[in-house]
Amino acid sequence: MGHVAEPFYMPETEEIKQAVRTAYGSLANGRTIPLDTGCCEPTTKEKLLRYGYNKKELGSLPESVIAMSDGCGNPTGLGMIKEGETVLDLGSGGGIDVFLASKKVGRRGKVIGLDMTPEMIQKARENAAKAGLSNVEFRSGEIESVPLEAGSIDVIISNCVICLSPDKRKVFREMFRVLKSGGRLAIADEVALRPFTKAEKEDTAKWCSCVTGAMTEREYASALGNAGFKEVYVKQLRKPGELTPSVFSAFVSAKKP
Ligand SMILES: C[S@@+](CC[C@H](N)C(=O)[O-])C[C@H]1O[C@@H](n2cnc3c(N)ncnc32)[C@H](O)[C@@H]1O
Repeated sequence: MGHVAEPFYMPETEEIKQAVRTAYGSLANGRTIPLDTGCCEPTTKEKLLRYGYNKKELGSLPESVIAMSDGCGNPTGLGMIKEGETVLDLGSGGGIDVFLASKKVGRRGKVIGLDMTPEMIQKARENAAKAGLSNVEFRSGEIESVPLEAGSIDVIISNCVICLSPDKRKVFREMFRVLKSGGRLAIADEVALRPFTKAEKEDTAKWCSCVTGAMTEREYASALGNAGFKEVYVKQLRKPGELTPSVFSAFVSAKKP
């Protein structure tokens, strides 16, 4: 049964979370991690332009935010965030999408970044202080157990994070809980072309590189539907990479009725 789809199978939840924390803690401290997929290396502006960010917004960010960013798309660039709204970024890392969303919500709005890696939270807070932003907040915590009240968020964004979670069902349940009725999801994530096997999922380096924790498009859409979301769309952003032929970057959107 080794090749049968096991969408949410992950035997050692805590082990995988610790490996993810170690990998992204190193990235926050400016070190690259020798993973064979090219993931977790400091990012350049050129890469972010390919990922859908524009020159003007990148020019407004501190270099340290750019170097630490490690997403696969631009969830803030799709016109889903409006002035005055409260936005939550799941797995906010160094804060790139929190900072860009903060400009869209303006002074009447608020953006909360949530991340479980202490080094990322510390750097993101330092970056926010440097940028003098008063409408952003970074909280330490796990996306499987969001430390926020039910019905408190207008838009949830996330950039290359859900694929790293060992319990995606919990993540989707939490997203649904904290969103207001009519709230939206704007997610950039890796999506698998085929279900990964148990053995592949147990390859911690590949999981931490945003590869073998990825769900297929069908698994993604049905898991969001099971959590209660409507209007679920998965749109491919780029073709699979040379080093990662089994996943592609996608934009995933959905709405809480
Ligand atoms: C690939 S990086 C992306 C960071 C950021 N979204 C960006 O675009 O630059 C993944 C981030 O998600 C965080 N993360 C992964 N799994 C998490 C979880 N279960 N709960 C909270 N944060 C998590 C990591 O600590 C890391 O900062």
